[in-house]
Amino acid sequence: MSAKKLYIETYGCQMNVADSELIVSLMAADGYVLCEDVKEADVILVNTCSIRENAEQRVRGRLKLFGSMKRKKNGLLVGVVGCMAQRLKEELILQEKSVDVVVGPDQYRLLPELIRHAESGNPVVQAILSGDETYDDIEPVRYDSNGISAFISIMRGCQNMCSYCIVPYVRGGERSRNPETIYSEISALKENGYKEITLIGQNVDSYNYNGFRFHELIAGTARRFPEMWIRFSTNHPKDLSDELLKTMAAFPNICRSIHLPVQSGSTTVLKRMKRGYTREWYLGRIEAIRRLLPGCSVSTDVMTGFCGETEEEHQETLSLLETVSYDFAFMFKYSQRPGTWAARHLQDDVPEEVKIRRLNEIIELQGKISGRVKKLDIGQIYDVLVEGVSKKNANEFFGRNQQNKVVVFPDSELRKGEFVKVKITGSTPATLKGTLL
Ligand code: 5AD
Ligand code: SF4
Repeated sequence: MSAKKLYIETYGCQMNVADSELIVSLMAADGYVLCEDVKEADVILVNTCSIRENAEQRVRGRLKLFGSMKRKKNGLLVGVVGCMAQRLKEELILQEKSVDVVVGPDQYRLLPELIRHAESGNPVVQAILSGDETYDDIEPVRYDSNGISAFISIMRGCQNMCSYCIVPYVRGGERSRNPETIYSEISALKENGYKEITLIGQNVDSYNYNGFRFHELIAGTARRFPEMWIRFSTNHPKDLSDELLKTMAAFPNICRSIHLPVQSGSTTVLKRMKRGYTREWYLGRIEAIRRLLPGCSVSTDVMTGFCGETEEEHQETLSLLETVSYDFAFMFKYSQRPGTWAARHLQDDVPEEVKIRRLNEIIELQGKISGRVKKLDIGQIYDVLVEGVSKKNANEFFGRNQQNKVVVFPDSELRKGEFVKVKITGSTPATLKGTLL
C-alpha cells in the first residue's frame, strides 16, 4: 500500500507556522507524506487561528469546501487543529459536518493515533491544555521554507491576560523551552545552510528556563552562531528591559529590529485592555531603543475601536503613531472574543462604522509615516541577506536588511543565502531599492 498523503493549511501567526512544521514531523514519523495538491490528500489538516472573528470565518469557508470534497472522495478525513480547535472543541464537530478530528495545540503528539480512531467513522476531539508540553524533542520539518530563514519556537502559551485576547485560553499558560534543545536545533539548521533564525514566542521577554532569561538566551545564541542573523518576536512593552537592548547592542549578528505592539496610544484604553503600561511608559521604552540601539527599526500592532474608545482616545493613538514614527504596523479593529475578560465585563460599544473609519484613519496615517521613514534610508548602506528573485523583474533580486526591510537590487546572478552590501537609492511604499557595492 502506498503512503498516505497529508495536506496541511496554516492560518494565524508565526507560532502556527512553527506548529505546522512540528505536526508534519509527527505525521511523517507515522508514515505520512506531504502533498501540495489538496485533491491528492487522504488527510487534510487545517491549523487555525482564533484571534479575530474573521480569522475563524475564513477557516469555516475552507471547511465548507473540504466538506464538498469529502462527499466525492471516500475515506478523506478532515482535521481542525490549533487555536480554533482548542476554543470550540466538540462544538466544532456539531457545527461543521465535514470535521472528523479536532486537536488543540498541546495534543499534537496524539494526532496520528486520533486520526486512526477517526478512520473507523467516529469523530474525535482532544483539546486538553498542558502545563509543560514544549515539543522540544521534535525536529520540525521545514516544508515551506526558503532554506535560509527559520522560525524557532522558544516558548509556548501566554499569561499576560490582556483583556481582549483569546490566546491564554487557547494556548494555555506560559512555558519555556530548554535552551540546549534550542541551540541544537539552530546547529542543525546551520549545517543545512540556514543563515537566519527568528526565536518566537507570545512574549519572548518573559522567557525563563529555570532562571535562564531571554537576554541570556540571545547572547548565548549570538555567541554560538556568529555567522547567523538572529531575530526574535514578540516583545511586550511592559517587560522590554534595558538589559535586553544592551545585549542586542553588544552583538552585531542580533538584528536591529524590534516588534513592540502598542495596541493603543491612550493610557485609559491601555488600562481597560490590561496591558500593564501607560502611554508614557511605552514612549520611554521607545526612547531607550533609540538611545541604546541607534538605527534599530521599530514596528507595532495597533487595535482600534476597543470597548468604550472615545474620539479623544482614538486621537491619542494617531498622535502616538506620529511621535514614534514606526517603520511598519499591523493594524486591526477590535473583535470581541467569547470568554475573554473584555467579553465578560465590558461593552463592545464602538459602532462598526466608527471602528472602520478609525481603522482607515490609522492605516492612512501609518502609510504616510512608513513612506516618510523609508525615504530616510536613501543613501544608507546595508548588509542584505539575499532571498530570491524579485517578483516584478527577473534581473532583480531581493533580501532583507537587519531592520527587516525588503531591499530590491539588480545583480548578475542570484546569490541566495549570501550577505551582500547594498546602497539604498530609492524607495517605494513597500520596499527599498538599491545598488550592490
Ligand atoms: N481583536 C482584534 N485584534 C486583536 N489582536 C489580539 N486580540 C484581538 C482582538 N480581540 C491583535 C493585537 C495583537 C495581534 C496579534 O492581534 O494587536 O497584537
Ligand atoms: Fe497565533 Fe493567536 Fe491566532 Fe493562535 S490565536 S494562531 S496564537 S495569532
